[in-house]
Amino acid sequence: MNQDRQKKEAAEAALEFISSGDVIGVGTGSTTNFFVDALVGVKSKLDGAVPSSEASAERLRSVGIRVLDLNRTGDLPLYVDGADEATHSGYLIKGGGGALTREKIVASASRKFVCIVDHSKLSDVLGSFPLPVEVIPMAQGLVSRRLVGLGGTPVLRESVETDNGNVILDVRNLNLVDPLQIESDLNNIAGVVENGIFASRPADVLLVGTDSGVRQLRLS
Ligand code: A5P
Repeated sequence: MNQDRQKKEAAEAALEFISSGDVIGVGTGSTTNFFVDALVGVKSKLDGAVPSSEASAERLRSVGIRVLDLNRTGDLPLYVDGADEATHSGYLIKGGGGALTREKIVASASRKFVCIVDHSKLSDVLGSFPLPVEVIPMAQGLVSRRLVGLGGTPVLRESVETDNGNVILDVRNLNLVDPLQIESDLNNIAGVVENGIFASRPADVLLVGTDSGVRQLRLS
């Protein structure tokens, strides 16, 4: 079965977590796009959605789903989003699409985070995917040097400006065996807006598309 099929099936399996009248958080990326397509069928159940990027806002509007501002909704019952890498404990690397900061904000505001991935995203320890770090442009040099000091190899993502007007450094070779600690350490570097480790707010449920159907891991 191909990867897109696995993503689509995982995305469709997330529909069961929606209750009537919900305003839900919706993430960013190709797997989440399958989720937005699937939402069309249950649109009447939804009161609206809070997107984690301008791209997702656009996509939601294009299928007729009301887009709401997180400052008006308060906490949300559910957030559905993909990931670039996921462990069996629900720790994630996100930000391959550059939306990590808003993704972490919406995930943190949500009581349940359902993460939808294809089987290729699963790993035992985070670190195969280069870690995205969103940085204030004037701090790019400073943050790069600090990341090198931590053993990392940062590379500027060319021609990318985030929805928040910042740059992204993609960092290889960091030791991520203690994701909670490194998530916090990286965010303590002046100029770092956010990093793509989701350990302090991990997934509560992982829906993994496989060749033999969707595996559900309930983690909290
Ligand atoms: C966006 O910034 C990311 O966090 C995405 O959720 C992640 O890159 C997964 O993307 P795909 O669903 O396209 O693989």
